[in-house]
Amino acid sequence: MCGIVGYTGKDLALGPVLEGLRKLEYRGYDSAGIALITDAGEKLWIEKRAGKLGNLEEILGDKVPNSHSGIGHTRWATHGGPTDENAHPHLDNEGKLAVIHNGIIENYLELRQQLEKAGHIFKSETDSESVAHLLSDSRKKHGGDLAAAMREVCQQLRGSFTLLAIHSDQPGRIVGARRNSPLVVGVGDGENFLASDVSAFISHTKRALELGQDEVADITADAIVITNLTGKTLPHNEYEISWDASAAERGGFEHFMLKEIFEQPKAIADTLLGRISGLESDVTKGIDLKNIDKVVIIACGTAYHAGLVGKYAIEKWANIAVDVELASEYRYREPSVDNKTLLIPISQSGETMDTLMAMRYAKEKGAKVFAVCNTNGSTIPRESDAVLYTHAGPEIAVASTKAFETQLIAMYLIGLHLGRIRGTISAELMAEIESELSELPAKVEQVLETVEPLRELTRKFSKSTSMLFLGRHVGFPTALEGALKLKELAYMHAEGFAGGELKHGPIALIEDGTPVVAIMPAAGSLLAEKMASNIQEVKARGAVIIAIADSPLAAANHLVRIPTTHEFLQPVLSVVPLQVIAYEMAIARGNDVDQPRNLAKSVTVE
Ligand code: G6P
Repeated sequence: MCGIVGYTGKDLALGPVLEGLRKLEYRGYDSAGIALITDAGEKLWIEKRAGKLGNLEEILGDKVPNSHSGIGHTRWATHGGPTDENAHPHLDNEGKLAVIHNGIIENYLELRQQLEKAGHIFKSETDSESVAHLLSDSRKKHGGDLAAAMREVCQQLRGSFTLLAIHSDQPGRIVGARRNSPLVVGVGDGENFLASDVSAFISHTKRALELGQDEVADITADAIVITNLTGKTLPHNEYEISWDASAAERGGFEHFMLKEIFEQPKAIADTLLGRISGLESDVTKGIDLKNIDKVVIIACGTAYHAGLVGKYAIEKWANIAVDVELASEYRYREPSVDNKTLLIPISQSGETMDTLMAMRYAKEKGAKVFAVCNTNGSTIPRESDAVLYTHAGPEIAVASTKAFETQLIAMYLIGLHLGRIRGTISAELMAEIESELSELPAKVEQVLETVEPLRELTRKFSKSTSMLFLGRHVGFPTALEGALKLKELAYMHAEGFAGGELKHGPIALIEDGTPVVAIMPAAGSLLAEKMASNIQEVKARGAVIIAIADSPLAAANHLVRIPTTHEFLQPVLSVVPLQVIAYEMAIARGNDVDQPRNLAKSVTVE
């Protein structure tokens, strides 16, 4: 959700704080703000603006005073609209203490009422501002100790939060805390960082410290002290970041999304590496996969669609029941879970709050948790029994592409692995899938060769008000993903349907000229003919058919050819044209490709 960064050290703080915010802007871009403690006079200097970070940068000019410690925030609005007043940082009434927050303080109304009664004056509608007032009072009680105040205040808060606070009487010091929301410490030489994720400081240091649940970090340029909420000092859990800064740069592409679409062959190959003929024991250690009678996949958004594809493969190859659930719904219906349930949370970020909370529910009931995640050391893998890391590398564009592809690969690897250990997959089928999997990077490469003509074709439909996506079998979740991509990027009505379901209602949506993207089942597969009939039904009612198919299709007005692969693996190929359609449509309609309106990449609130 919101992006948070803090810097204290030998350099002027403005540079690293703004650089960090640029890297974190994918987390939210409704408004941005910074607070610095000035070198001269030790005063708090703050500036914040509604809109993207660029709005803030524009007004900064050369008026920023010298400072060696400061914090910055980029917001995804929850409580209170995206206005200057609601932008972070928030100050106490003396204007000496500044706070930035990611998450939701669930008891903020109650806290606000108490604080207002005690004379505090609020300037924003946010839940976050209460924390500034609480910290201010608590700090006085603790003889000016900001870390002690943070520990006390965190105990009064309900909900999820990453908090950073500074006080002008203590230049050079930043205090941070986290609960159900990420915070990492960047360990530098004569400088230290606090941030929502490592991308904020990776160009300065590759050494990072994980903060656990309810931990408080108190940093200066030369010292890092981590404590729990009772004040007990905790050991440092330091690690080396494995990817470098250039992986998160655009590298000549117009947008991160296009770069990430083109990185898919490599992401797939990296995720498959050394795993096709079996998941190494270091992946599955800590979990007994033999003793399970049900698989439950939980995820949100694009990851949920990968889970839906996973259901087809895992049920078929491992002969076990698989439920795929929207994480945000799962725990609230109190589903039956026990120690024979294998729970698979899928998450690119590893921080999605809905997924995390659903996973905690199942874990408490005894489920074994085998996470699929792209972000090393994030909360979901940390709390899981075993993890299959996807190797998509950093994904910056808000609309997920390469992470989805690698999540599909993870589903196939888990399906094969379970099939092997349960003895439910024949040697022939296993060999066929293994061989087809290894060919996927080259085949995706082939699909990428169709990008330019497809971009041209897409522009023809840029004025359409609606686009429908049809698929059957694994093509159905692919259709859902195609529609989601288009909604996210083109802000256009788009829906995905199972081809066979259309005649039961949605066919009423078809008008003369409605573009319908048909994801054709692999030629010769059971459903190819049925889908061809479904297409005739919509074509007869005026639809324009754009078919994604591995063989010619008479009914298609436009055909996007993809290579042939095993029918279960087809989404890996057929989703690529759908990503390109959404990408091009966003450009044709003048939308922001990498940061679509109202969205955030990592959603750390429920
Ligand atoms: C957000 C993003 C989606 C993403 C979903 C799940 O809504 O905008 O693109 O699919 O979260 O994210 P995760 O990090 O858990 O895969």
